Amino acid sequence: MRVIESMIHGTTQIYGVIGDPISHSLSPSLQNPAFAALGIDAVYVTFRVAPSSLGDALRGLLALNVQGINVTVPHKNEVFQYLDEVTDTARKIGAVNTLRNDSGHWIGENTDATGFIRSLEPLGLNLSGCSVGMLGAGGAARGVAVGLLEAGVSRLFICNRNYERAIILAELLQASFGQQSVKAVSLEQLEKEELNLLVNTTTVGSERYASPAKLNRFDNLGAVADIIYRPSQTPLLLEAEKLGLPNLNGGGMLLYQGTAAFSFWTGRPAPEIIMCKALDEHLSKI
Ligand code: ATR
Repeated sequence: MRVIESMIHGTTQIYGVIGDPISHSLSPSLQNPAFAALGIDAVYVTFRVAPSSLGDALRGLLALNVQGINVTVPHKNEVFQYLDEVTDTARKIGAVNTLRNDSGHWIGENTDATGFIRSLEPLGLNLSGCSVGMLGAGGAARGVAVGLLEAGVSRLFICNRNYERAIILAELLQASFGQQSVKAVSLEQLEKEELNLLVNTTTVGSERYASPAKLNRFDNLGAVADIIYRPSQTPLLLEAEKLGLPNLNGGGMLLYQGTAAFSFWTGRPAPEIIMCKALDEHLSKI
């Protein structure tokens, strides 16, 4: 949906996303239809902010009374130092993707964790007490892992090409979630575990031909989730489908991190059906 001039008034509030680069962002296509659907007098725009300007930009956005901001690459970690308050979830993830202007102060949140967990609903899993294998230990993995552990997963196995990185992430998570077991493992070890769910958080599969694991080597697997949304069916998900395993891609996570941000800003339930339709339309065009 295009935001036309006649919809912008003296009272219109401003929301947006900061990143560098930023022109590819899907968020305006997600958030503007949501404001329009609920009759909220607001617009959502992109701001290209270079790393060296992050502090100035955040102070400037507050000075201009911008109400809420999404934060994307490369600012998700650096942004911490400019915040007045950070939610527990964002602190555990170590990254922020959403800011709310609270009377001239920024409050930082990370909606990736809840967005990911919400996206799993179609699988019908009761995550509490589950065993989950996670491929990857990068930035996206941290949000997914915190979501899973907050949802009560009892055993989380982290497998990453760079094993050292998996160990560091496992130790970090174990410090926050002492009652649950978080372990770095090799792919061979992971294949032997009885997993209710396997999640791919690596970028492998976005090029269509590559897969981060061979599912037929897993002894006992319940379901598969890939956080990649383009292509909509990665080779990993194609194999899951062939093996008859319930599976889903990252479209839901993308949608629900956005609906959670909308609610964090406005205090209102997001118009999910409208946002889902807007996202589908946008994704079908690119
Ligand atoms: P993001 O923020 O999207 O998570 P990232 O922090 O760069 O991006 O993490 C990318 C993840 O994909 C990492 O787990 C990375 O593994 P390494 O830590 O070993 O680099 C994984 N990844 C990327 N390309 C890969 C490949 N060709 N094979 C296996 N894993 C790969």
